[in-house]
Amino acid sequence: MIGKVVVMGQADYQDWLAGGSSNEPLEVIGEKKFQQLACHTCHADKPNARGPSLVGVFGKPVRLQNGQIVVVDEEYIRESILNPGAKVTAGYKPVMPTFKG
Ligand code: HEC
Repeated sequence: MIGKVVVMGQADYQDWLAGGSSNEPLEVIGEKKFQQLACHTCHADKPNARGPSLVGVFGKPVRLQNGQIVVVDEEYIRESILNPGAKVTAGYKPVMPTFKG
């Protein structure tokens, strides 16, 4: 555990990370949190958004700025939210703020 995320209930968060119990895409399950936390201001699913689209990324490989390829899983998403600068997605600037605590 890297630390407790207090902005979402722990169960909520686990559910969301796991892609939820339903088969809805990540951004639908997390949509409310997403709006609340203003994630959508950068992760708008459209060209030239400040952040990468998160639609359907779970389980898919993503290229990082250092050329490394990682698969988007729970660990990666958790790290991307708590410590966004640790692995920066290729083609984007490390402007995402941390949502730790
Ligand atoms: C200020 C704009 C901004 C906000 C607000 C923001 N992000 Fe990001 N996010 C980015 C950028 C830019 C990247 C790509 C660079 C990086 O990896 O740090 C990113 C990367 C990510 C990634 C990795 C995606 C990938 O394809 O590699 C995840 C997951 C993520 N953000 C989730 C969130 C969540 C959840 C929130 C709300 C709690 C949020 N972001 C809020 C800008 C933002």
